[in-house]
Amino acid sequence: MVDLRRQYSLLKSDIDEAIHNVLVNTQFILGPNVSELEKEIAAYHNTSHAIGVASGTDALLLALRACGVGPGDEVITTPFTFIATADVISLLHARPVFVDIVPDTYNIDPARIEEKITGKTKAIIPVHLFGHPADMAPIMDLARKYHLRVIEDCAQAFGATYRGNKVGSIGDCGCYSFFPSKNLAGYGDGGMIITRDEELANNLRLLRNHGSAIKYHHNLLGYNSRLDEIQAAIIRVKFKRIDEFNHMRRRHADLYRTLIRRDDIIFPTELSGCTHVYHQFTIRSKHREQIMQALKNHQISSAIYYPLPLHQQELFVSLYGDGEELKNSETCSKEVLSLPMFPELEKKEIQHISDVINHVS
Ligand SMILES: Cc1ncc(COP(=O)(O)O)c(C=O)c1O
Repeated sequence: MVDLRRQYSLLKSDIDEAIHNVLVNTQFILGPNVSELEKEIAAYHNTSHAIGVASGTDALLLALRACGVGPGDEVITTPFTFIATADVISLLHARPVFVDIVPDTYNIDPARIEEKITGKTKAIIPVHLFGHPADMAPIMDLARKYHLRVIEDCAQAFGATYRGNKVGSIGDCGCYSFFPSKNLAGYGDGGMIITRDEELANNLRLLRNHGSAIKYHHNLLGYNSRLDEIQAAIIRVKFKRIDEFNHMRRRHADLYRTLIRRDDIIFPTELSGCTHVYHQFTIRSKHREQIMQALKNHQISSAIYYPLPLHQQELFVSLYGDGEELKNSETCSKEVLSLPMFPELEKKEIQHISDVINHVS
């Protein structure tokens, strides 16, 4: 799905030098690369604060903690996402409340959120799935109306924009993952939280470091969840090129759309006012299995994100019982197929993949 060697070959000398410099400087924990990357990413989003943490999962967990989510609370989110969006809610002994998606974008349907808000609701986690922004305006309206926190799961959407604003800068917190296959990535785990709110930022800095601002003095129950200095150095090299890389993904998406000619395929949409960054190029078809098999026969990877929506996962059924039917998520999970997508993908490869798909009978 993603050939990570190609980007490494392209950036090898800069990445090798960045890693070497960390080894020579020996400031391995919360060193200068972490603080510089935090400044760079905050500026990119036009926000005041960015806090590097150990993973995208921890970014969500710490953001929920900083927003005061705890036992007995409810947090509204989408069932059509990676498990990390919701398991962090349960880890805090709060309860995820799943709201169905809009099939066009695969993102949470804002029109269905209000009916799920109760006296226990504390926050909403919209996910900008596959790189397309969730519809943030109505979500922010509801948050204001009911005094809810909004934590954006931007793990798949670095650089995506919604009505002129970068995702992550719209809610109270934006949470990023630097998992190696993400649009902006390290060579291991890593994550970041961005926020405009100084109090949240101060809290997050404590939470990531054992609840401590002054060494061996601890103010609250925290975690060891710091972004690794070597990862930060690598990510800084790639960050310089992120807009160019996202642009390449968008060009590949256009090419797939032009070259794949089948009536049974629904292409990803880009809503007006949104910039999609195509972390995934995800099509839908009732003939998904045949298409997948044909690609496999030609040694082409494809993947199903996600085969089982979260409300049907054993984990959540065992915790909360059978949830209600969420039709759009259930249908999409049976029809979606993600095709190879990464900046260094070549035109002739997209042509070949499209040819194979066009010839499936
Ligand atoms: C939508 C979403 N949320 C959260 C995460 C968790 O990020 P990480 O793997 O860095 O913990 C991921 C990625 O893996 C993701 O795709």
